[in-house]
Amino acid sequence: MSSFSGQKLDKIPAHVPPELVYEYDNARDPRLLEDPHARMRSLIKEAPPIFFTPFNGGSWVVTRKKAIVDITMNPEVYSNSFIGAAASGEHSGENKEPQQGFMMLPIGVDPPRHTMYRAPLNQPLAAKSVAGLETAIRTMTNELIDQVLGAGRCDFLSDIAEPLPVTLFMKLAGMPTNRLAEFRHLATQATSSTVDAAARAEVFKRIAGILAESIKARQEKREDDLISRLLDVNLDGRHPTFHEMLGYSITLFLGGLETVVNALSFGVRHLARDQELQAKLRADPSLLPGAIEELLRLYGIASTVRRVMRDDVLHGVQFKQGDMVSLLLPAANYDDEAFPNPEQFILGRKEQHQTFNTGPHRCVGLHLARLEMKVFYEEWLKRVPPFRLDPQAPPKFMGGFNLAITSLPLVWG
Ligand code: HEM
Repeated sequence: MSSFSGQKLDKIPAHVPPELVYEYDNARDPRLLEDPHARMRSLIKEAPPIFFTPFNGGSWVVTRKKAIVDITMNPEVYSNSFIGAAASGEHSGENKEPQQGFMMLPIGVDPPRHTMYRAPLNQPLAAKSVAGLETAIRTMTNELIDQVLGAGRCDFLSDIAEPLPVTLFMKLAGMPTNRLAEFRHLATQATSSTVDAAARAEVFKRIAGILAESIKARQEKREDDLISRLLDVNLDGRHPTFHEMLGYSITLFLGGLETVVNALSFGVRHLARDQELQAKLRADPSLLPGAIEELLRLYGIASTVRRVMRDDVLHGVQFKQGDMVSLLLPAANYDDEAFPNPEQFILGRKEQHQTFNTGPHRCVGLHLARLEMKVFYEEWLKRVPPFRLDPQAPPKFMGGFNLAITSLPLVWG
């Protein structure tokens, strides 16, 4: 999901002590655009653990694991209830009014109602259930590899990382595969950080239109897919409304595409720069699940945000009702109080990374995300010879709520 759309504040709010002000623009910070995760590491070293940035409408930014855990475990004070996909496709972080655009379920609802909305997703996205998609993921991965293998090069983003999760989403949601090309194009635009906000808003409306058509088709006739299952779930003695169904579909769409695209891409970039690790994983694929966790730690993707519902002091910082609090999950993975030698890739670390967050909203798609990555790496490492970054074309990055790569040219052979 993307950055706040607000302006830089002229004046720092009175309750913010000057020593806690640190200028950091999560969309345009030049060091972020040079190397997003290097910037996360520098924030741990240079900025206060909880700081206030005047950019993007003004918000607190939390970079340490313990403070993020404390905030996510206290939804009564630190609420999600303003989160929605605006027609612009942006979080309306600085708005004080409830969101006008699309409702997002279950992410835009606080406990106890959240529990009711989350329950229908737990079972279909549990590890056991998503295991049924493994063959399909493997087939899709191999089809994509077939298209680039002989060329000895590819742009990993457009050739592999973008198409894979979109195709999978369509399968999961039961969308007609004859719309694959159209939907893939829209999904790539909606999740691409290079498309401007107005164009994205348009794309977003069209996606919502297609999702709405799928829901209507399943209302007429159930199939073996997630939309059909969700239509029949019990929400406190009734079935979800059409609006609620759209809320689920949009969250699954936004939650499951850009995140996986970038997690795969940052992981592959790491391997392209570490031939030794690449060889080790190629020789012993049983190391992959551990390696994937460590890559997920080193390359956190999504950050998230909470709104303060009543004045509170946390880790010595005074928060006021209405303040926005960004939880910089990719930075928390470099917190040296939580992770010894945080900059090193260490297979078999015990500490749990923060990439999927903690608390009631912890990613419900994490089993599917891990499965996609595992199957992808198994096939890619088996079939593609040792690969490296194209020396002529370095990767390009993007900031925002999701740390992103926009281009990743690779060569091999
Ligand atoms: C590597 C890939 C992924 C990352 C890094 C990621 C990250 C996250 C994070 C950080 C949250 C918590 C947000 C918050 O606390 O406000 C979240 C929630 C969520 N994610 Fe993921 N996600 C990934 C993949 C997926 C996939 C594949 C799906 C779809 C199947 C998905 C669906 C969701 C949903 C529906 C929520 C909301 C859960 C709730 O509110 O209870 N995610 N994700």
